[in-house]
Amino acid sequence: MDHFTYQNGVLHAEQVSLADIADAVGTPVYVYSRATLTRHARVFRDALAAKLPRLHLAYAMKANPNLAVLKVLAAEGYGADIVSGGELERALAAGIPAADVVFSGVGKDARELRRAVEVGVGQFNLESEEEGIELAEIALLMGKRAVCALRVNPDVDAKTHAKISTGKSENKFGVPYDRAAGIYARLASLDGLEMRGLAVHIGSQITDLDPSRQAFLKMGDLMRSLRGQGLVVSHMDLGGGLGVPYKQGEQLPTPEDYAAMVAEVTADWDVTVMFEPGRVIAGNSGVMITRVIRVKEGVAAPFVVVDAAMNDLARPALYDSWHDFLAVEPSGERMVANIVGPICESSDTFAMHRDIDAVKAGDLAVFRTAGAYGATMANTYNSRPLVPEVMVDGDKWALVANRIDPAAILAAEQVPEWLV
Ligand code: LLP
Repeated sequence: MDHFTYQNGVLHAEQVSLADIADAVGTPVYVYSRATLTRHARVFRDALAAKLPRLHLAYAMKANPNLAVLKVLAAEGYGADIVSGGELERALAAGIPAADVVFSGVGKDARELRRAVEVGVGQFNLESEEEGIELAEIALLMGKRAVCALRVNPDVDAKTHAKISTGKSENKFGVPYDRAAGIYARLASLDGLEMRGLAVHIGSQITDLDPSRQAFLKMGDLMRSLRGQGLVVSHMDLGGGLGVPYKQGEQLPTPEDYAAMVAEVTADWDVTVMFEPGRVIAGNSGVMITRVIRVKEGVAAPFVVVDAAMNDLARPALYDSWHDFLAVEPSGERMVANIVGPICESSDTFAMHRDIDAVKAGDLAVFRTAGAYGATMANTYNSRPLVPEVMVDGDKWALVANRIDPAAILAAEQVPEWLV
């Protein structure tokens, strides 16, 4: 459930008309609903808290790292799952305690590791033995012990898009399952580290719970064998990945279904269970508003050329993903069209042959389910502005990220004298 609804024929975010936001800010623009964010945060948390006595939730801020979004989620008790030094500083700026931060990622560099040890990050999810050895040296030099989990690659196919699958042996993530016990034991013997658990994350936009179940069962076996060797395993990080409906009416496993599966698998684990949800919290909390520039005649179907492009919402170009397209003020008529942006390559296509609300030049429309992996993946390709973001709360709204104009980007460039 979300808070984007038609009121008097106009699509609103909570009580604010999206037409009013578009008129005031211009398009394209992302709009987030605070009530929806909070609702999703609570539904996910409450479903798990009802089944798991010891729980830690770290919002995967890569999904939407906007400071206002982080503040809302921090107020709901979420820590942060981070993957870079930049995300660490954002999490701290949002007031998320370092102790509630989980540092994931396959390529943390020495500077990032040092900074994370310095501020007291709560858990490092190590992706290799090499990383663990480097972190142990850094922590020792700083007179500290870094608390760690070992990320394991369970070699399970998440049955999602290949570009967002992470748990197959050919993927770069984690250590191979068969070598994990040996690596864990070696890292646990280092003075600079406190190994306390295992981590797994097999992919994103997961719509079938069975692969996750298989992966978690394998992690349970590994946990038991580590304990059998006398090693401590008090925390199990089961990652993120739960999918969200991108099409109206799509039926997917709910947080309650997910929690029931996890509770069944982990019943006798006696650990703190950790999660890193991103999309399930942010995805349906945001839309991107765009304006139709013109409707161009096509051979098989007309092209609806909108002022948003693949630089503003990259997911369709990258993953062939579907985002529902709705007119802000639908006339009731329908049309079949291709929806494209102004960028000069054919991957700048949001939809082909789609049955949509009929639109014409000047009309406003939204791409739905754009709150996760939307604005954060935007760029300025074709010297387009960096897309702004708005947060709505009841009848209030505010810009929470400015549009960055091409002039500002140009001003950050310089031509050395010797070149010309
Ligand atoms: N934990 C780890 C270690 C991850 O790599 C990810 C996502 C998450 C948690 C959060 O997963 P989520 O709950 O959001 O599914 N840009 C792609 C998605 C990339 C996901 C990367 N890792 C997209 O737009 O679909």
